[in-house]
Amino acid sequence: MKTILDQLTINKNRLSQNIEQLAEIGKIGETGVCRPTLSTVEKKAFELVSKWMEDAGMTTRLDNCGNLFGRIEGKDPDAPVLMIGSHLDSQPNGGRFDGTAGVLSGIEAVATMTEKGIVPDRPIEVVSFCDEEGWRFNKGLFGSRGIIGKLDEGELGRVDKDGVTREQALREFGCNPDKLSDSVYPPGSIHSFLELHIEQGPLLEKVDQPVGIVTGIAGPLWLTVKVKGFAGHAGTVPMYMRQDALVGASEMILSFNELVKRDSAATTVGTVGALNVSPASRNVIPEEVEFTIDLRDIDLDRRNMCEYDLRENFKQIAEKHNVTVEIIEDQNSEPSFCAGWIKDIIRSECQHLGLDAPNLMSGAFHDSLMLSNVCDYGMIFVRCKEGISHNPAEFASNEDLAIGADVLYRTVLKMMK
Ligand code: GLV
Ligand code: MN
Ligand code: MN
Repeated sequence: MKTILDQLTINKNRLSQNIEQLAEIGKIGETGVCRPTLSTVEKKAFELVSKWMEDAGMTTRLDNCGNLFGRIEGKDPDAPVLMIGSHLDSQPNGGRFDGTAGVLSGIEAVATMTEKGIVPDRPIEVVSFCDEEGWRFNKGLFGSRGIIGKLDEGELGRVDKDGVTREQALREFGCNPDKLSDSVYPPGSIHSFLELHIEQGPLLEKVDQPVGIVTGIAGPLWLTVKVKGFAGHAGTVPMYMRQDALVGASEMILSFNELVKRDSAATTVGTVGALNVSPASRNVIPEEVEFTIDLRDIDLDRRNMCEYDLRENFKQIAEKHNVTVEIIEDQNSEPSFCAGWIKDIIRSECQHLGLDAPNLMSGAFHDSLMLSNVCDYGMIFVRCKEGISHNPAEFASNEDLAIGADVLYRTVLKMMK
């Protein structure tokens, strides 16, 4: 009997070898990856991936926002482009598949077309977007925001933990940050966008399916909270006289956690993932604490309500502890839904392979979220072990990745018309 793997058109071995080879760049430990955006490590990854793009028949370019593109021309070279892609930057202690699976399966789809002599009606571009993850400069989706003209003021002045600005990092990477607007695609010039990504959640594993059809992406709100108290001697200042920024911040963090959980049936999630204490000495009362908020929901009204309540709570908690609180908005994206016609194509291509792919929502954000501002988009999810991601233990099998890439290839054949 023919299995699904016997029916695949893409080259399963090439895809898994490429994933393995790329994982060596920025490798930490046995299975982890640290590939910061705009770093020498990412540059090395871009060089290797450019070569694979060229082998697949594409011409390559790096734009001024730090995005890497490979392009094959269509029968009509002026037709709006079908874009496929994801990102190659990783979390500081991330996995091998987040982002890379999407870029490499896009290249695999084009390589397969080239080998078969298929010329698309419209041009196809495979892209690795710059700084999807957002941890280095505390604001993500830089490259995908860059090509749709959605960069904010102060974007170039943001600094990483070593004081390097985004502007410097772009220059060192070979980009010209004075000409970011050169990267913007004119309205109507992107026909549609397709992204394959590992699920980063446990649902596909639960229903025992290798791939899923994404219905929409939850919108992230990223805030930085600055709590200011007064430093003093840990041994002499009586408890009732203290303005301890860390005690205030701790209560805020716990109240935020309770707030997010108040409706157990809701899709709201909230995380405090980074915290800095100053002056960070064991015998000094903390004067300043800075922490991050990541708040998401597919339901924007509910997320907005949660934001309103957290701001009110933080004000009251600051008063209670005699500290001040300032809240800065780093990133605010609305949720968005995938195009019905692309979901239909993905579903019918899955059925063609004998797959009963479920619909599922993405709690993680992706470059697709930005592209949804200018064109229709679709996403294919690939099962990942125990739903673990942003962790070196992240794992997707070669078989599942190959099936996902084949669904991508088949979907591209329909979308390129
Ligand atoms: C992207 O990596 C996210 O945080 O969802
Ligand atoms: Mn990702
Ligand atoms: Mn990620």
